[in-house]
Amino acid sequence: MEFQDRRGIVIVGAGLAGLSTAKELRRTGYEGRIQIVSNESDTPYDRPPLSKQYLLDGDEKALSLTEDLPASVELVQGVNAVAIDCTQQALRLSSGASIPFGRLVLATGTSPRTLPSLSRSSIPMLTLRTLGDARRLREHLKSGCKLVIIGGGPIGLELASTARNLGASPIVIEAAPRLMSRTSPLRLAQTLYAFHRLKGIEIHLDRQVSRVDGNAIELNDGTVLAADLIVVGIGVHANDGLATAAGLATHDGIFVDCFGRTTAPGIYATGDVARQLNMFSGKFERIETWSNAMEQGTSLAQNLTKLQPDRKHNAVPWFWSDQGEARTQVAGDVSSSEEVVRGDFAAGKGVSFHLRNGRLVGVAALNNPKDFNQAKRLIAISATVPVEALADVAYDLRVAVKSAESEAKHERT
Ligand code: FAD
Ligand code: APR
Repeated sequence: MEFQDRRGIVIVGAGLAGLSTAKELRRTGYEGRIQIVSNESDTPYDRPPLSKQYLLDGDEKALSLTEDLPASVELVQGVNAVAIDCTQQALRLSSGASIPFGRLVLATGTSPRTLPSLSRSSIPMLTLRTLGDARRLREHLKSGCKLVIIGGGPIGLELASTARNLGASPIVIEAAPRLMSRTSPLRLAQTLYAFHRLKGIEIHLDRQVSRVDGNAIELNDGTVLAADLIVVGIGVHANDGLATAAGLATHDGIFVDCFGRTTAPGIYATGDVARQLNMFSGKFERIETWSNAMEQGTSLAQNLTKLQPDRKHNAVPWFWSDQGEARTQVAGDVSSSEEVVRGDFAAGKGVSFHLRNGRLVGVAALNNPKDFNQAKRLIAISATVPVEALADVAYDLRVAVKSAESEAKHERT
């Protein structure tokens, strides 16, 4: 039996996760009402180009997420969802209206962390999450601009690379002793450090900003830097306030089971905001990546229309980060130090395979999408591949994929 309720499905958040949920609902034949509530006024857009191509060309059309959105999906824009009445199954909006729902999807994403203690700045201090943020950044980011970026994660480094291409002078201040500490293994991070330094990007590791006075930025080792513009890219927190206030289980994210169900009946969560058991790490995690927002939204849609969900989300988590000519891709769990390297990171093309008890659990690639994609498939089936084969650039990983996938199929039958 299929889910039928004339109140239909209401989705909060018109980011990638919300939109992919709605598109998949229609693609799989759901004909009921779908409403998406968004607190942004811009037509829904994709975020990855905001730190890369968009800053170079300002092409807003290229960002659109609505080209393949069926017209029957209703977009309610420029309003905040402010409260959920779980008993009445209704969503209250900042406009004063209340929308009843049969099922509710929370796809509210994340917001950048900020540094309110550094408020004595006479120059702009921005974050980069929305199209509005990127527009403001484009206005300020001119050739010769002294740009101080706080945070050496993907946002900080993508922005630094793009800014350098625009002729600006970026300086990155990273609190940890290495770059990309949340997302990438050490070898890749060290290669990126050398790459960015070579491009003329100044990087201060193991440092924090202790004071901003006017346009002077003082680090905790006493270094003083002059800046025209500051961008803070120190990570994000989940937009889970609506869920917490409604009594759902949350902790920097909304807890969901493998089908995307929250702890309240009829309410689901997906994308950056959802905290779900990650089959590969064994932990409840939020996965802050484009592919997760896309795939988690899609698999949620396939459960939403069923009375008994049956589509477990267990895709291998992965992301890419383009930093100038350095295309990095990371999948699975790269925390293990049982590591095999193929190629030469220092020469600009390499892959590190991360194993646990001989099984491939993670991969990090620099400018090698071909091996990365095969490794991702091997991780999905937890394959064992001889270490010598992994290390040998002449060994075609497709051979290993073919044999491991047919073995896995054989085991299942
Ligand atoms: P979001 O995109 O955050 O969308 C949530 C939406 O919900 C927002 O519009 C928000 O305003 C709205 N909302 C929140 N609360 C309410 C409310 N109460 N009422 C109404 N609306 C509400 N990932 C990669 O894998 N590779 C990359 O190269 C990459 N680059 C990125 C570059 C940038 C600059 C940024 C910001 C992100 C990047 N990402 C990248 C991450 C990726 O874009 C995100 O993981 C993805 O957008 C998450 O989608 P989402 O729909 O879950 O959340
Ligand atoms: N000063 C300097 N660096 C800091 C500070 C601080 N006070 N606090 C944190 N950092 C550093 C962290 O050590 C980390 O290296 O900022 C970096 C933030 O990296 P991420 O957590 O990966 O976050 P960010 O790069 O901001 O990316 C945020 O955008 O790329 C998307 O989806 C991705 O969700 C992610 C989001």
